Parts: sequence; C-alpha cells; structure tokens
Amino acid sequence: MSTVVISGAQWGDEGKGKIVDYLASQADTVVRFQGGSNAGHTVTVNGEEYKLRLLPSGILYGGTTCVIANGVVVDPQCLIEEIDSMNSRGVDTSGIRISNRAHVVMPWHKLIDEAGEELRGADKIGTTKRGIGPCYIDKADRIGIRVCDLIDREEFAAKVKSVLRVKNLLLQNVYNREPLDADEIIREYNSYAERLRPFVCDTITLLNDQISAGKKILFEGAQATMLDIDYGTYPFVTSSHPISGGVGIGAGVAPKKIDTVVGVVKAYCTRVGEGPFPTEQLNDIGDKLRTAGHEFGTVTGRPRRTGWLDACVVKYAGQLSGTDYMAVTRLDILDTFDEIKMCTAYRVDGSIINEIPASLKVLAKVEPVYETFAGWKSDISSARRWEDLPANARRYLERMAEVTGIALGIVSVGPNRDQTIVLKNIF
Ligand code: GDP
Ligand code: IMO
Ligand code: MG
Repeated sequence: MSTVVISGAQWGDEGKGKIVDYLASQADTVVRFQGGSNAGHTVTVNGEEYKLRLLPSGILYGGTTCVIANGVVVDPQCLIEEIDSMNSRGVDTSGIRISNRAHVVMPWHKLIDEAGEELRGADKIGTTKRGIGPCYIDKADRIGIRVCDLIDREEFAAKVKSVLRVKNLLLQNVYNREPLDADEIIREYNSYAERLRPFVCDTITLLNDQISAGKKILFEGAQATMLDIDYGTYPFVTSSHPISGGVGIGAGVAPKKIDTVVGVVKAYCTRVGEGPFPTEQLNDIGDKLRTAGHEFGTVTGRPRRTGWLDACVVKYAGQLSGTDYMAVTRLDILDTFDEIKMCTAYRVDGSIINEIPASLKVLAKVEPVYETFAGWKSDISSARRWEDLPANARRYLERMAEVTGIALGIVSVGPNRDQTIVLKNIF
C-alpha cells in the first residue's frame, strides 16, 4: 500500500499527530489537505513535545517531504513562526512544499472571525479565531488570495487593495472595528512571501508524480468527521472536509488512488467549542477524564468537554471515510476507572435509530444506550503487544471493533513513539 489517509473519527484531538508521526517513519511524504492553524497536533519524541498547527506531523523525520496542499488555508505568519521554532530546535525543514493554489489567511479573516463570534453572542460556534471560516468563505466567494498571488508582488498589492475596500466597509459598519491599512498589510505580507517563496510549488504534480513512482504518502487530516462542514454537527463545525474524501479536493489526488484509510479514535470522547455531544459527562466522570487526560486545547488552551466513547459516531465516520482500520489512542487514560461505558446505539422518543440525526434539535434529545465494561485498573503504558493488554482492555477494544464494523489497526497507550501496539501493517 502506498497512500494512506489518517482521519479523525470524533470531534478532533484524537491523537492524529501521534499516529501520523508514528507512521511517518515509513513514509516518503506527509500531506496536510484541509484546515489551517486551527489544528493543534502534538507529537512527543523522546519526551519532548512539538506542537504543530500547519506543518505536517512528518516534519520530525529529516528527509520527509511535508506538503501543505491546496485545500489548506495558510496563515503565513503562523507558518513562519512554526518553521523558525522547528529550526531553533534543530529540526530540518527543507522538505516543506506549499501549494501555489492554497488560500492565504489575511488579517481581516482573523478580525472577522473574532468579531463574528462576538456578534453571535450566545449562538457562537466557539471557533479557534484563527480566521479559518472567513478565509474559506472568501475562497467560495471567489475573492480569496492564493499563495501564487502572495508571491507575485503586483498581483498581491492589487488584490489586497481591491478586497480591502469591501472588507473595511464591513469591519467599520457591521463589526464596529477600525479599518485596516492596505500598505501596511502589503509590506508585512511581502516579507512573508520572500520567506516562503522557496517552498512554493505545484503540489498536485508533485504528489501525482510521487504516487506514480510508488512513493509512500500519508495524508494527515486535521479536525475530524463530526466537525466536517457537510457531515458534522452543522453549524457547530469547521469550514472544510476532514473526512477521507477531502483528500481528492484538498490535494488533487483522485479517490481511486487512495489505498488505505485509518480512522483515529480516542478511547473516550472530547469536544472543544459549542454544539451537541450526546455522551458528554457533565459530572465527576467528565472531570476525571479531563484531569487524567490533561484535556485542554493545544491551540486555545480551553478545557475540552469530555464524555464516554460514542461508537455510533465512530461507525458513521467509518462509513463516510471508508475506514479500513482504527487507531485507538489514549487507552491508558482509562487505566484508573472502575467501569467504562460505551454508547452503542441512540434512542430517540423511545425508539432505537440507525442514523446520526441531521437536526440538532433531534440530536440534542438523543439518549445514548450504554454498555458497561469492567475497568482494568492497571497501568498499561508499557504494553507493546496485544497480549500485554489486560483482558478487560482487550474486551473493550474488541467490542468497539464489533459495534463499528472497523478492524483494529493500532492501539496507542501513551504519547511516545514506542507506546504503540501495531496489529496491522498499515503501509
Ligand atoms: P490531534 O489534534 O488529533 O493530533 O490530537 P492532539 O495532539 O490535539 O491531542 C492528543 C494528545 O494526546 C496529545 O497531547 C498527544 O501527545 C497525546 N497522545 C496521543 N496518543 C496518546 C496515548 O495513547 N496516550 C496518551 N496518554 N497520550 C496520547
Ligand atoms: P485538531 O486538528 C478540536 C473546532 C473549534 C470549533 C469549531 C470551528 O487539533 O483535531 P474553526 O476555528 O475551525 O472555525 O472552529 O471546530 N475545532 C477543533 N476542535 N480539534 C481541532 O483540530 C479543531 N479545529 C477546530 O473548537 O468548535
Ligand atoms: Mg488537536
């Protein structure tokens, strides 16, 4: 197998970064295909933590090509900060390639994201305020600025002036903000352009040539299925397609060229921001999950909402992405629980339903049907083989595979590379 998609199966922060980093040791190329700096992927190597927002999680292996493909929205300032921070820690960043078709996050996107949330008040989405939604809006509105424009001084200046005329009217008259100065932005972004220019290329050709040459490519999803703009809990979603299908649009790689899909599943469930979360535990259990799992956002530092594993959601993610294998992460966080619950069905108005309701009103009144498992009450962080796991942990995992219809591929029992149990060779 040479092309593998890694996609989050819940509401994000499943540990995609760890799984991508683990598999990247075997890959030639790692590709981000959607989202932007709203992602926060933490990778731990020899006890040292690296927090990645735009850079693919393959960057920690020297020599890996790391592609930021056309479907990503790129905040150049954030990307340069990340590159500088990696360089200061001795990480080789020469393998970065940025699509000339990717859209650029501009200062007005971040201002409008923040001001829009403020105006929505109680109806806010709880965005990361990184300008992601407004940048994708401009892409669809055909007034976005792309990386190929960023590195063309004349084109860039003309576009900024033209777009800013309208954005300043919006900022002043709708959002009650100060107008932005075009010349200042052009100067600032020209300096970013010079830093990023050497990395810019046609990543569509690059990736398709690599696939033809039989290279091993990992596509790293950000966010997750339940945050997908079509399939998630709309409107409490992000503005891109984290499901495996997002690769076709976001990287210019045809669906038939994808060999394997891995869904990353946290052994319990978390969500950041607003929106429905049927298995949420607003009680001692939720608090214990948050404390044991240090569940605070990488990007915003917000406490994550916590709850039991929702196998209905994982099954849905499997259908949408054609998931071959699950990579179950953070199983070790459940080590101290006396009992563990898994939602295996939804009941609405007394009847079991076989779908994820589109209506948030219906989703809000879904009653999760739980199965209860005895905890294993032991430290599993040093387990390296399936047989090393306690029987109760194996039972929990096996039931997860049974309910979702997705085979187990990887089980992760800690943030480090070696804390990984491999049940299927993914590449
Ligand atoms: P991502 O956004 O999906 O990449 O996930 P995040 O990086 O936001 O959050 C996952 C957190 O869990 C990170 O701090 C990882 O280092 C950590 N992690 C990943 N796998 C495991 C695991 O199996 N056990 C533990 N204890 N931590 C893990
Ligand atoms: P990773 O890749 C968890 C959530 C935000 C908010 C909603 C919309 O680390 O799993 P946006 O800024 O995208 O417009 O916010 O989506 N969100 C995430 N939640 N993990 C993420 O990324 C997320 N990226 C966005 O909290 O609810
Ligand atoms: Mg994250």
